[in-house]
Amino acid sequence: DRPAPLLAIESSCDDTACAIMLPDGQICADRIYSQNEHAALGGVVPEIAARAHLAHLPDLVTQCLADAGYQLADMGAFAATTGPGLIGGLIVGSHYAKGLALSMNRPFIAINHIEAHALMATWPLMPGGGAPFPFLLLLVSGGHCQCVAVRNIGDYTLLGSTIDDAAGEAFDKVAKMLGLGWPGGPALEKLAREGDARKWDFPRPLIGREGCDFSFSGLKTAVSRVVSRFGAEALTRRDAADIAGSFQASVARVMADRVRNALSAFPEAKNIVVAGGVAANQAIRTSIEAVAQERGLPLFVPPVRYCTDNAVMIAWAAWQKIRAHPAADINDLNVAPRPR
Ligand code: KG4
Ligand code: ZN
Repeated sequence: DRPAPLLAIESSCDDTACAIMLPDGQICADRIYSQNEHAALGGVVPEIAARAHLAHLPDLVTQCLADAGYQLADMGAFAATTGPGLIGGLIVGSHYAKGLALSMNRPFIAINHIEAHALMATWPLMPGGGAPFPFLLLLVSGGHCQCVAVRNIGDYTLLGSTIDDAAGEAFDKVAKMLGLGWPGGPALEKLAREGDARKWDFPRPLIGREGCDFSFSGLKTAVSRVVSRFGAEALTRRDAADIAGSFQASVARVMADRVRNALSAFPEAKNIVVAGGVAANQAIRTSIEAVAQERGLPLFVPPVRYCTDNAVMIAWAAWQKIRAHPAADINDLNVAPRPR
């Protein structure tokens, strides 16, 4: 008799994801449909995202069950992200999972998306092993930019977050100015490799200030001023590469400064974890690596697949929640999706 797995759904932004996981963290199925509906529109359109989740979720769930060789009735529980995120997608995913839970007479488990990103680092099957508590989490993606003190399961303190754009958003907007398409973060990093990162002395917002909040609007404006000085048409590839490199260097230095402050506010941290799509950026990794070395702390960066939005992290967080409270006590059917 195999132990019952649970089925988890993630739909808070533009990735429709489903995973099936056993209690020990073993993955039975893990699928992500990355919505391509938004690329031509230059950013995630909430209404289109919600409709795309609705269109793709049923097949995704069916495919995951087939991958895992299970039926819906074999699931011990159903979990979904209920926030934070775009409300339309949250409603689609959480109500879909609630419907499955009700029809199968199993518990529904509501998961906080940020908590799931945080706990994913502790997944014991992580290549290189899970990160032990307590750790400082730097979560940097298209939707998030924050430093979180993660002391234990359920014990989190938000140390700082962005007061305007998320880090990935800033990358995407600058990439757009340079004509790189959307989402432009990876293309910008690639272009930056050809450029001189010292060519432009862009602002490094909030560096040297107390706390660990982030801000990117001033930096973005400075970049846009330089781009318009050239005129978008006159901008050579070399010019664009210099701008990309200089922008990226500014962001990397800001990240390091904020992480240093976060570690001062959270001296108990035994590890540093970087997650979110922007963690794929080598310049940012290198700059956080330097801070980790300075402080003598190990640095954990999950593989991109588990550090960007996925449903495995929702499933793993749900198992942690079940372990902390007997499943019979969890009745999250009345938890409403919340965008913030
Ligand atoms: O975690 P993620 O896949 O989705 C969420 O936003 O939650 O993150 C996507 C973001 C996008 O803004 C993308 O441009 C950025 O991460 N990104 C990067 C890189 N790879 C992805 N930004 C900078 N450098 C990269 N290599
Ligand atoms: Zn996320």
